[in-house]
Amino acid sequence: MRLALLLLAACGGAGTLPLAAAPVSALADVHADQVVTQGDVTYALGAQLAIARGGNVTTLVPVDCGTPTCPAHVWTSAAAIPALDGDGRWIVATRFDGTLWRIRLDGELEAIGTRFGITREPFRAVASAGSTVAVLLDRGLLVTGDGVHITRYDLDGTKASLAVAQDRIALASPNAISVWNLAAGTRRTFTIENAHAGFLDADGKAPRLVASSSRGIWIEHGAKLEPLEVGTVAASAIAGARLWLEVGKRLYVVTDTTPLDTTVASAGNEPMFGAPNGDVWVGDHGLRRYSLGASTGDPTWTAKIQPIFQRVCAHCHLPGGDADIDLSTSASWTLEHDEIVRRVLVTKTMPPAGTVLTDDDRGTLTSWLKP
Ligand code: HEC
Repeated sequence: MRLALLLLAACGGAGTLPLAAAPVSALADVHADQVVTQGDVTYALGAQLAIARGGNVTTLVPVDCGTPTCPAHVWTSAAAIPALDGDGRWIVATRFDGTLWRIRLDGELEAIGTRFGITREPFRAVASAGSTVAVLLDRGLLVTGDGVHITRYDLDGTKASLAVAQDRIALASPNAISVWNLAAGTRRTFTIENAHAGFLDADGKAPRLVASSSRGIWIEHGAKLEPLEVGTVAASAIAGARLWLEVGKRLYVVTDTTPLDTTVASAGNEPMFGAPNGDVWVGDHGLRRYSLGASTGDPTWTAKIQPIFQRVCAHCHLPGGDADIDLSTSASWTLEHDEIVRRVLVTKTMPPAGTVLTDDDRGTLTSWLKP
């Protein structure tokens, strides 16, 4: 019954039904200008770099800003891009001083501007989706689809923001957003003032432009930008195919056209950062991660199994993780029940060699899987 209600709400059939979201982890005292989530690793970039797995900060290092004190906002953009050495993805970010950095898992920073052939021009923003990477300069845009061949486009003026979807680029200037379709070689302009550009479902087959400004939010439908019927939006973030909004000190989520109340209260005007799996990080001093529908799971699973999942399986089995098999909810454990029994208890091929599952944990899994 609960599931049926949720589905109904998710389909937008009943806009007034809440779609419950729940906190899934928290990073106390962490302040971030940018947050990038990659599998179960979160990179929170501020005057300190906080790198966390789930809710545990594993690396916390101050940033050397090259000036006596760092400015209030150190990082101007950040993205997970296909690694320029061809192995996995890199977390990269642009800084207040126009430099471009790779942020390693151990908190090391590596200046990577010269890899784009740029030595003197400042970097203003970086964005990526799928295999497409775009880097914004003051008067130019660099685009690559393979990390090797880089195309430079000259721009007629300074752009306020950059967004990327697979084979698509959006550039916002003070009076319009221009969307380039790289595969088709076409460009389209939407007249809209002082808006930021983003893409819903940027990695998917049908990415949609989202324009947000202090006056409202517009989502691309067909060839048009349609305004979203909602009150004053204090903050917004795109998380995969979802748009999260803060309206009247509450979080809302938009999956199609109807904003749905998540019943989560917020402090008001808190920055928000989307994760590719649809979750959102919220907060100014201290970040909280919210997930949709997480509160509807089986409480025994949450109490007994989820901690083991977080410790042992999460770094491969989160949505979008290396294994490509999402085991982050009780529902997925129910669906995969027989396969989990076979792989974890019978053949013992999961977790793979190199990851330890203690006898205690195996005992807990056995009693939950074979009651
Ligand atoms: C180091 C990464 C890693 C860890 C840790 C890991 N897995 Fe996996 N798992 C994989 C990969 C990769 C696959 C897909 C390839 C395969 O089937 O071996 C997989 C497949 C599976 C499958 C088969 C699913 C199917 O439908 O074929 C199950 C079940 C599974 N894992 C359960 C678990 C559980 C439970 C844990 C934690 C106790 C765990 N795994 C920990 C990487 C991991």
